[in-house]
Amino acid sequence: MSVEEHYVFKGVYHLRTEGQRILLTENLDRGFSVYGERLFTIGGLEYREWVPFRSKLAAAILCGLKGWNLGRGRTVLYLGAASGTTLSHVSDIIGREGFAYAIEFAPRVMSQLIERVARRRRNVVAVFADARMPERYAGIVDIVDLIYCDIAQPEQSRILVENAEHFLKRGGEVMIAIKSRSIDSVEEPEKIYRREIKTMEDWGFKVLETTNLAPYEEDHVLVRARYE
Ligand SMILES: C[S@@+](CC[C@H](N)C(=O)[O-])C[C@H]1O[C@@H](n2cnc3c(N)ncnc32)[C@H](O)[C@@H]1O
Repeated sequence: MSVEEHYVFKGVYHLRTEGQRILLTENLDRGFSVYGERLFTIGGLEYREWVPFRSKLAAAILCGLKGWNLGRGRTVLYLGAASGTTLSHVSDIIGREGFAYAIEFAPRVMSQLIERVARRRRNVVAVFADARMPERYAGIVDIVDLIYCDIAQPEQSRILVENAEHFLKRGGEVMIAIKSRSIDSVEEPEKIYRREIKTMEDWGFKVLETTNLAPYEEDHVLVRARYE
């Protein structure tokens, strides 16, 4: 078994083992598995498997994402953190010098997020709030380098833009997972993606890339854009 750091995504690793290629992040919370993912100890370091069927960000890497502004020491606002699956890998990647604010409004998943991630990692703060009302958490959240948005709501592009106006630094980036069926189950997905992208462009975002997440997630794209 050998581990190599990804040549683009620093803080992400590949494990090559008997023909399989597994994505990993280095575990900031040694010995603890957040969602049942496998742990591997190699060369004295512990890594967690990053499962693309459980995390759209891992799926995006395997589907050809070209870049991101995540990395050690970055600050992140995460909208729709759920029970913390992807958030926990973001926490591994930004490391102890970074910081992530996790917004979630569903009580059950929020309590799992606190139990499995926020209480155990000092670079994550859980914010029990509705992402449609950024002014409610303006006293907690600071200016960030990146907003990651995965709220699966019809109005998600507008919600992302409003959060960017409050918290994203100029030149910062956003990544938004767009699930066409959450917006309209009948309309052509491509039409929906174009409309959501247009909303972002109208609000001053330069779209950098769009990654289709099939076969890991059907009818989903991940859009990456810069706030200009
Ligand atoms: C698809 S799940 C997120 C999965 C998560 N990003 C991951 O990869 O581990 C969407 C989450 O967004 C949350 N959500 C939806 N609308 C929201 C809102 N207005 N404010 C806060 N959270 C919201 C839902 O409760 C749900 O947990």
